[in-house]
Amino acid sequence: MVTGANTGIGFETAKELAKKGFNVIMVCRSMEKGKDSARIIESEFSGAMVHVMKADLASFASIKTFSSDYLKMYDRLDLLVNNAGVFSDTHQKTEDGFEMTMGVNYLGNYLITQLLRPVILKTEKARVINIASKAGFHGKINLTNPFHGPSGFKAYSASKLALIWWTIHLAKELKDTDVKVVAVSPGRGATNIWKGKSFMMKIVRPIMLRKAMSAAKCSQTGLYTSLAEDNKISSGSMYENLTLLPYNKRCLDYESQQALMKLTREITGVGIGT
Ligand SMILES: NC(=O)c1ccc[n+]([C@@H]2O[C@H](COP(=O)([O-])OP(=O)(O)OC[C@H]3O[C@@H](n4cnc5c(N)ncnc54)[C@H](OP(=O)(O)O)[C@@H]3O)[C@@H](O)[C@H]2O)c1
Repeated sequence: MVTGANTGIGFETAKELAKKGFNVIMVCRSMEKGKDSARIIESEFSGAMVHVMKADLASFASIKTFSSDYLKMYDRLDLLVNNAGVFSDTHQKTEDGFEMTMGVNYLGNYLITQLLRPVILKTEKARVINIASKAGFHGKINLTNPFHGPSGFKAYSASKLALIWWTIHLAKELKDTDVKVVAVSPGRGATNIWKGKSFMMKIVRPIMLRKAMSAAKCSQTGLYTSLAEDNKISSGSMYENLTLLPYNKRCLDYESQQALMKLTREITGVGIGT
């Protein structure tokens, strides 16, 4: 399962998994865009098994409907690539009233994973791959109000730090199972994520894209952590360029991590074992 699979890094990930013969669920917020992308994969690889399902990660209701449908239809989930993400350069809110970037990149990915947890646990050697970013290493999370903060780069780096903290936390929670959870820094890619409309983004975009890689190149580390043999992958760790990326001090701030996890459980209503 790949979220945000209709374009960019998610599309390349889904395509490569389909090429290798896996049954791929492409989770997209637009069925139309998802089906168009699935058709491209099917036209490139005859026999590709790709299925599009709808979930808007900016809506708890949509995530709940999607997860419930999935659990009715399937009884296993070998791989969940939490790839969907946004960089919202203007202040926007999710359906539930959270700042958009934090809401989608962290809360959406958290909720979808928690709701699919029963089927992940049922599946032998399942993996959860959280597409984070090295931006998280510089993230600052206001623990008195983490989900209603400012937009733009502050929100983006905070959302990716949250994703890293949760990766470490979830790996610890699941340490007695055979599930592995990792964070991935895909590298800077020339994708739609930097297509913000604000004046600042018009200036920043050319700088961001100057040394950007293709989405296909950016998908490589996520694919590596998805498919590498078990003994090559260390649960709770982060990977970049097909290798381990040591966390900085901020990522290993245990007390802040615990505080965020508690707030996340309260906000989403799910956590530990649900
Ligand atoms: N590109 C980079 O330089 C870079 C660097 C570090 C990390 N990343 C991370 O890599 C991941 C993929 O990004 P990308 O660069 O491939 O960007 P992208 O081309 O913009 O793709 C993002 C995907 O997420 C989906 N998405 C956005 N909001 C959603 C929502 N509310 N519900 C469901 N899906 C939603 C998008 O759907 P729509 O097409 O409908 O918008 C799209 O499929 C993100 O998590 C991003 O933060 C990217």
